[in-house]
Amino acid sequence: MYAKAKYRKDYQTPDFTVTDIYLDFQLEPEKTVVVATSQYQRLNKESTTLRLDGHDFQFSSIKLNGKPFSQYQQDSESLTLDLARVEADQFELEITTILSPAANTSLQGLYQSGEAFCTQCEAEGFRQITYMLDRPDVLARYTTKITADKAKYPFLLSNGNRINSGDLEDGRHWVEWNDPFPKPSYLFALVAGDFDVLKDQFITKTGRKVALELYVNRGNLDRADWAMQSLKRAMKWDEERFDLEYDLDIYMIVAVDFFNMGAMENKGLNIFNDKYVLANPQTATDDDYLAIESVIAHEYFHNWTGNRVTCRDWFQLSLKEGLTVFRDQEFSSDTGSRPVNRINNVKFLRTVQFAEDAGPMAHPIRPEKVIEMNNFYTVTVYEKGAEVIRMLHTLLGEEGFQKGMKLYIAENDGKAATCEDFVSAMERANDLDLSQFRRWYSQSGTPELTISDRYDEKNHVYQLQVSQLTPPTADQMEKVNLHIPLKIALYDEKGAVQTLYDADGVVDNVLNITQKDQTFEFHNIYTKPVPALLCDFSAPVKLDYDYSTSQLITLLKFAENGFIRWDAAQMLLAAELRRNVTNYQQGQPLDLSAETAAVLYQVLDNHQKDIELTSLILTLPKATEFAELFKTIDPDAISAVREFMAQTIADNLKELLLKTYNQIRLDEYQINRQDIALRKLRNVCLSYLAYSNIGNNLVNKHYTYSNNMTDTLAALTSATQAKLACRDSLLADFEQKWQHDGLVMDKWFALQATRPEDNVLQNVMQLMDHPSFNFNNPNRVRSLIGAFAGQNLKAFHAIDGSGYRFLTDILIKLNKSNPQIASRLIEPLIRFARYDAQRQTLMKRALERISETEDLSRDLFEKIEKALQ
Ligand code: TRP
Ligand code: ZN
Repeated sequence: MYAKAKYRKDYQTPDFTVTDIYLDFQLEPEKTVVVATSQYQRLNKESTTLRLDGHDFQFSSIKLNGKPFSQYQQDSESLTLDLARVEADQFELEITTILSPAANTSLQGLYQSGEAFCTQCEAEGFRQITYMLDRPDVLARYTTKITADKAKYPFLLSNGNRINSGDLEDGRHWVEWNDPFPKPSYLFALVAGDFDVLKDQFITKTGRKVALELYVNRGNLDRADWAMQSLKRAMKWDEERFDLEYDLDIYMIVAVDFFNMGAMENKGLNIFNDKYVLANPQTATDDDYLAIESVIAHEYFHNWTGNRVTCRDWFQLSLKEGLTVFRDQEFSSDTGSRPVNRINNVKFLRTVQFAEDAGPMAHPIRPEKVIEMNNFYTVTVYEKGAEVIRMLHTLLGEEGFQKGMKLYIAENDGKAATCEDFVSAMERANDLDLSQFRRWYSQSGTPELTISDRYDEKNHVYQLQVSQLTPPTADQMEKVNLHIPLKIALYDEKGAVQTLYDADGVVDNVLNITQKDQTFEFHNIYTKPVPALLCDFSAPVKLDYDYSTSQLITLLKFAENGFIRWDAAQMLLAAELRRNVTNYQQGQPLDLSAETAAVLYQVLDNHQKDIELTSLILTLPKATEFAELFKTIDPDAISAVREFMAQTIADNLKELLLKTYNQIRLDEYQINRQDIALRKLRNVCLSYLAYSNIGNNLVNKHYTYSNNMTDTLAALTSATQAKLACRDSLLADFEQKWQHDGLVMDKWFALQATRPEDNVLQNVMQLMDHPSFNFNNPNRVRSLIGAFAGQNLKAFHAIDGSGYRFLTDILIKLNKSNPQIASRLIEPLIRFARYDAQRQTLMKRALERISETEDLSRDLFEKIEKALQ
């Protein structure tokens, strides 16, 4: 296995660059010929060797300034030219390569999705098309000519503007595209196929007309509207909030069904996983609609934060991803509910990102060492990266942040920038010292804030003692103190927020934690307050403050900030879970405290106060979310206790649940905030009622009368989770109705994979032969196998090792066909340190078996090596 690591510290500016490139594609599924004619420029006058990246194609020929050239050496991943005898600093290379898109199951480079051709070049996929300086700091102007059979591929698309086209005699046709904006190779895209197109337009704030084109597989036009509306909302929002306007005359989005990730921001030609485009009320849930809106916005926002200003090297990935996630989160919060968005984002960060930071793949948002770049498109780089941007926003305020953005864009437009360039712009625009804040970019791990308080009744002074500690992580033993913005609020027992004073006057509610230990004093506090700490999750840290149950209940009842109420409920549920997991392990009976039951009752009874929030508070965390509360995870205990909690809450609240369920009436499906909230609350009630004696009847009816996928899926989920008698007939009905549609069937596969029954693994194995399943489609693999390994805590971690063995067999196959997907799926297995000794042994054995595979991909190699180290 040859896998050399790259280090951030080794970055060197390129010796050569490409200014212009002309790509000529003759498309055929089995044999595509690519002629790349590039204008090279020598930047370092001393350099006489030019090493180009490239692999997985047939290399046919190379010409230098029009003449055959033979002074080169080829290896499995590059072509190195000896230019000792080339004097000119500018020269042309013409390289011909032959590819087989039909055989390319890696879904990187040029591949086929169904009948269509498409590309995926980020991070290092362009080198699977031709030899190239495939690095993001080489920016060139691209012109692309595509030739293909006209009947099979009526649409031939690439970046930028369509400049020319024509028909050929043999039934083939061609189109030529030119992208006026210099870009790195990872933003190149090509699509050829037959599609239905939804056309629209957007008038920018300066009055320019932009043509919008959305390409979907034939027959899917009735699922394209929402994505188009979302795009227009995103374009408008970016003008209003960030003062950023679109720059080309055309913006195209293509939805394909074979795609490794969510979507890709290729200049002027986004390519999307169809999951993040296609929606109508019958096929998509409310959550699907919201996810589509956010991914469409994310890719659009990349046009400025990613494309106009790109990354110097891949260690800087968070420069574009963290910032763009922050932007899409803000868009969703401005368009929908801010607290709901915040809560969902925090939930995700706390479970998935905290877990990553606690495992073998821990890395800072700007990694120091990478073997396979695809392994670093992580929740740390994306979501924690966005939290770092959000902390800057908290420290600078909207105005200061936007001043910094303006400077950042002005200084870096058209360039490849670094995280340092960003922080430096923020710093200079605001005349602020961010030197300590910068450590967030280089330190991995989740900091812990331990907080205690003291109330001085006599002098009306309230004190908070705050200390910070970041425990060591797999990649980094030594940790330093960070600059942590800690947003607080002090409540009196009636729920009123106290104004904060120190000895001199009013103080801000964002405390700057910069040292190991700090004490803050608040004056004029006349009764002992209940502190709300880390409001809105002002920093990506863990909080340790010894809340009493009654303090949490006060916050849950009275706090006017939705996030605080939700967070208090989370802490209450966490305490219930912890106590009962111990009970379970000691063979003691389980119990839910009367106080918790009572406060949940009250929340539901007062749901009119905030319907969205009520649903979030009442939604029981999934077993995988609960698992993150423990250092050592006991899958059986957590699953059993969670089920007990659901059952007990159902018993305690039954009448009110049913009353609330019956009160909510919605006729025609509409996708708006109010209706989404009502559907959610009604479906949360259903999920509990499923555990009661009327469950089977109610869920069956809910399914039968549903006129939309949100309610249908809620019924199916309730039926499977509560193991209702109707579950098999409902699942069969759904299957019969949707088996022609893989995207919809993904919901069904995921339900099957997360069934709480004992024979679930056997079921999953059989479903791999289901006509709707396709091992080469990442969405199918994720929904069946990914859901089993990542969401079915109990079955995947079965103590007989069957879950591990199954995943191992799958990974060995995926290692060959699609290593990028294999590397995503292996995650639950490399986190063995969180389990008991017996499971650890089994998991390690599984990893060893994978590592013995011949031709182990760099993707899997990197993770297994780190895990077993
Ligand atoms: N840059 C893309 C985004 O943030 C994600 C991406 C990176 C990607 N590598 C990919 C998408 C590979 C598909 C395949 O949206
Ligand atoms: Zn992105």
